[in-house]
This record gives sequence, structure tokens and C-alpha cells, in this order.
Amino acid sequence: MNAPRAASAPQEAPGAVDWARVRADFPLLHRAVHDKPLIYFDNANTAQKPTAVIEAVDGYYRRFNANVSRAVHQLGTEATEAYEGARKRLARLLNVRADELVLCSGTTFAINLVAYSWALPRLGPGDTILVSRMEHHANIVPWQLVAERTGAAIRVAEIHEDGTLDREALARAMTPDVRLFAVAHVSNLLGTVNPVRELCREARRRGIVTVVDGSQAVPHRPVDVAAIGCDFYAFTGHKMLGPTGTGALWARREHLETMPPFIGGGEMIREVSFEGTVYNDPPHRFEAGTPNIAGFVGLTAAADYLDAIGLERIEAREAELLAHLTEALDAEDGVRILGRAPDKAAVVSFLVDGAHAHDLATLLDLEGVAIRSGQHCAHPLLQFYGVAATCRASLAFYNTHEEIDAFMAALRKVRRLLG
Ligand code: ALA
Repeated sequence: MNAPRAASAPQEAPGAVDWARVRADFPLLHRAVHDKPLIYFDNANTAQKPTAVIEAVDGYYRRFNANVSRAVHQLGTEATEAYEGARKRLARLLNVRADELVLCSGTTFAINLVAYSWALPRLGPGDTILVSRMEHHANIVPWQLVAERTGAAIRVAEIHEDGTLDREALARAMTPDVRLFAVAHVSNLLGTVNPVRELCREARRRGIVTVVDGSQAVPHRPVDVAAIGCDFYAFTGHKMLGPTGTGALWARREHLETMPPFIGGGEMIREVSFEGTVYNDPPHRFEAGTPNIAGFVGLTAAADYLDAIGLERIEAREAELLAHLTEALDAEDGVRILGRAPDKAAVVSFLVDGAHAHDLATLLDLEGVAIRSGQHCAHPLLQFYGVAATCRASLAFYNTHEEIDAFMAALRKVRRLLG
């Protein structure tokens, strides 16, 4: 079949990475914004795409666009192979079985699938859902919806001021009524990397099912889901260089086998009659309708691209960038960083004395700098810190030390403007 491969995978492991060459693979990074060179520091929100991904999507539409699993013709076969190839590729990236990976539109869908299909039929009054304080809304609101409908309670696993989970409080919170624990692998606002392996072990010992939100982890470090030992792991494609509208839920087969369908339609059935419908086996049971085939072709290229650089190298590169940015912000009067976890991803939320986050972000945009400001879909976390909004600079391996220096110069300039 003619599915395109990554067009410009940077280089094979091992060896040093030529980061300038890597950066050249990302066309959008070379544009100007307000006549200034773009400095894209909003990677936790969405990542930019390398040419390999853009060409993979383009190649799918030019060469083998067809619907999956429905046609016996050649194009249908090629499209199906590419789509199922994405499942295998992502399974390899995360060290899981492909038939335990439900392809979907992203983390929000993935967590809602667990909420509606695993939790809703099982939970009731007297049960508790434990949710960490540092979750973003996609790992809070679905549980609130389940709680409303089932009578289950929500309990918050609290954090310390430095942005790490309060492990003693967590152990106390894992009482026998807790059925499910939802936790981020990496916090989108604080960058905290949670020790998910240990957390899942503690939960499992108590019979608690674990849902790990891997959205901010998968693009930035090697992730071995089998080693984590969770029950569910959700992630999103667009944060890992892939197209929007892609992602997946990994679930233990034993859960998938017993979960009823969440959305009904084509693809998820084996036989339909008005007397009754026989559902397809998992993971297809949870993939009703025509999927985002082009997106998953692109996501396959994204996984190839990340692996070709090496996620260990990406992690090391981003740690260097994080250290540089943290040091620079710490050297600045009147700037406070939220989140000082010892194990931290390259996400820096900060506050500037006397300046509103949105004003800063708006003025920085005029300097070509893209950061996120506001509540970062994590209202309860900001409530913990007693602040209304933060600025957040989130880095990726394709960012540079020069960009950090230019960002700091821009920050100083806008602070002067704000008086
Ligand atoms: N996309 C959201 C973020 O920016 C969750 O972190």
C-alpha cells in the first residue's frame, strides 16, 4: 500500500541531535507574527506539526482516501491498513497491545468514554471518585457528570504548595468507598510529573481503578503504559505533533470486554436488526462512525517522527530549556512561578506583580510571542493558589535558548509598557 512514511525523520538513534535541523522541519515556526519572528511557547495547548505529518495527511487525501472497514476495493483496503497501522504504531509507542487501544478524537473523548461506559453503569450512592487537584477540566467534569447521575461522591486529592501531590493525604483519601482515581501524568498548568507508577500501585492494592491523563506526557518523555500499571490511559494526538481530532484510550482488555458501547452507529456493530444488535468486539465497539482516517495517518507520521529523534533526547532537551527559562524568570523582580515540583515538564506558569495575565499575553503577542494566559482549563487548581489567572509558557524540543532570551527581552519590554 502507498501510505506515506515520515518524509523527513530527523535522524536515527543513537547520536546527537541537530536541533537546528529539527526546527527546520516545522514550517509554521518560520513565520512572522505582527512583523516579529514567531516565538511559539504554547505547546501544552497544541504542538506545531513537522512537514512529515503535513505530507502524510496530504498524501492520504491524494493517494488513498477511502472509508475504512467497509469496502473491498483497493483504496478501502489501503485506508483500512493505514488506520489499523496507526493503532499498531501508537501501541508500539506506548508499549501496549493494539487491541486494547481505542482510537478516538482525543483525551476529552477518551475520558468521557471511561466515564460513560465504565463508571456510569457501575457506580452508585456510597461510591467515591477521587480526582487530583491538578486535573484539567477534561479529567474533572466527566466525573462530576457521573457523580450527578449515580449519586457517587467526588473527593479531591490535594497538593502541596510546590505543586506535588500530597501523598500522605492521598493515602488517607483512598478509603474503601473509592472506586476510581483520576490523575494527570503531567499537569498542564504546573508541569508536575506525577509518579503514576507508584500511585497506580497504591490504588490497585486497594482495588481502586486508575485513569491516567497522559496528554502532557506522551509528547515529552518515553511513556511505558504497561509499566505504569494503570487501568486506563488517555492521550491526545495534536499535542504530540499529530493532527487535531486524534487521540486514544488505552484500557485493560478485561475492562473493554465488559464495557457497553458509548456511541452507537456504523463500525461498532457486527449485525443489526430491529430485534437486536450484535456489537463488534473491542476496540471497534467504541469507534462508531467514520473515524478521522487522515488524522490517524498523520499521527502515525508524528509517532515515527518522535521516535526517530528519541523521546529520551526530547526529554533531556526540554529539561535544558526548562532550566534556562526558570532561571531567567527567577532572576526577574516581581515574577512568581507556580509549580516547583522536583520532577517537572517544560511548562512554566507565572505571575507578574501589577500586571494582569491577559494584558501581558496580549502585549507579548504584539512582540511575536505566543503564550497562554488565563485559567488553562484548570479552575480548581488556580483556586488552590488563590489566583485568578496565570501566564503559561510551555516549551517543546523545537524551541531554542535564543527564543527564551528573546522572550525575556519581550517580557521586560511589555512590563515597562504596563508601567
Ligand atoms: N489545551 C489545554 C492546555 O492548554 C488543556 O493545557
